Amino acid sequence: MMTVEEAIVGRRSVRAYEKKAVPRETIEKILRIASRAPSGTNIQPWHVYVLQGARKDALTAELLELSAAGKTDKREYNYYPEEWREPYLSRRRACGFGLYKTLGIGRNDKVRMQEQHAQNWKFFGAPVALFFSIDGYLEKGSWLDLGMFVQSVMIAARGEGLATCPQAAFAYQPATVKRIVGIPDAQTLVCGMSLGFEDKGDVVNSFVTVREPIERFVTWLD
Ligand SMILES: Cc1cc2nc3c(=O)[nH]c(=O)nc-3n(C[C@H](O)[C@H](O)[C@H](O)COP(=O)(O)O)c2cc1C
Repeated sequence: MMTVEEAIVGRRSVRAYEKKAVPRETIEKILRIASRAPSGTNIQPWHVYVLQGARKDALTAELLELSAAGKTDKREYNYYPEEWREPYLSRRRACGFGLYKTLGIGRNDKVRMQEQHAQNWKFFGAPVALFFSIDGYLEKGSWLDLGMFVQSVMIAARGEGLATCPQAAFAYQPATVKRIVGIPDAQTLVCGMSLGFEDKGDVVNSFVTVREPIERFVTWLD
C-alpha cells in the first residue's frame, strides 16, 4: 500500500508508456475517486472525455499534420503569460533543458525539440487520452476546482499502478480537439492528459524535476 506521501512525491510526468491497455473499470474507478475533489459550493465543474482506439488515433493524425504545417488554432485561454519574468523564466528553462539533456537533444537542435514536442500529439504512446473542460462562463474559482480534480486523477491513477502526463499542449489546438472529441462550444478545453503504464525502460522517464525549498515560497507570521 502506497502512503499519501509516496503517492504525491513519487508522481512524475511520464512521457513514454507500455502498449498495454487500461481496463475501462480502472479508468472509471480513478475518475470516481477523483470526483471526491473539493469545489466551491460543491458545484463539481469538471467535464472529462476519455479517448482510446480509433478516435484517439484520428486526433493524433490530425494534430501531427497541423503541427507539421506549423498551424495552431485560435486559443481559448492563455495558459502562460505573454511575457516571462523571474523566477519563472529560469525555472521554465531549467525544466525544458533538463528534459532535452536527458534525451541527448542539444540546446540548438530545434528539429529534435519539435519532434519531442510532437510526442504530445501521440500521448507519448499512452493507450488512454483524457481531456478536461469547463463551462466557458464559469470563473477563475472553478478553474481552481478543476485543477484539484486533475491532480486527484493523477494521484488516484498512481493508486492503480498507472502513470500520467498532464498536457496543456492541447490548449493550443482547441478547435481541432473539440471537433474530434465532440466537446460543446460552450465548454473551454483546459488540458489533456496521457494515462497508461509507465515504460520504465525509456530514458525520457528518468528525468526528475526539482522543487524549490519551502523557504522560497512560505512566509511565516507570528
Ligand atoms: C496543467 C499542466 C499542463 C502541462 N502540459 C504539459 C504538456 O503539454 N506537455 C508535457 O510534456 N508536459 C506538460 N506538463 C508537465 C510539466 O512539465 C511538469 O508537471 C513539470 O515539469 C513538473 O514535473 P513533474 O510533473 O514530473 O513533477 C504539464 C503540467 C501541468 C500541471
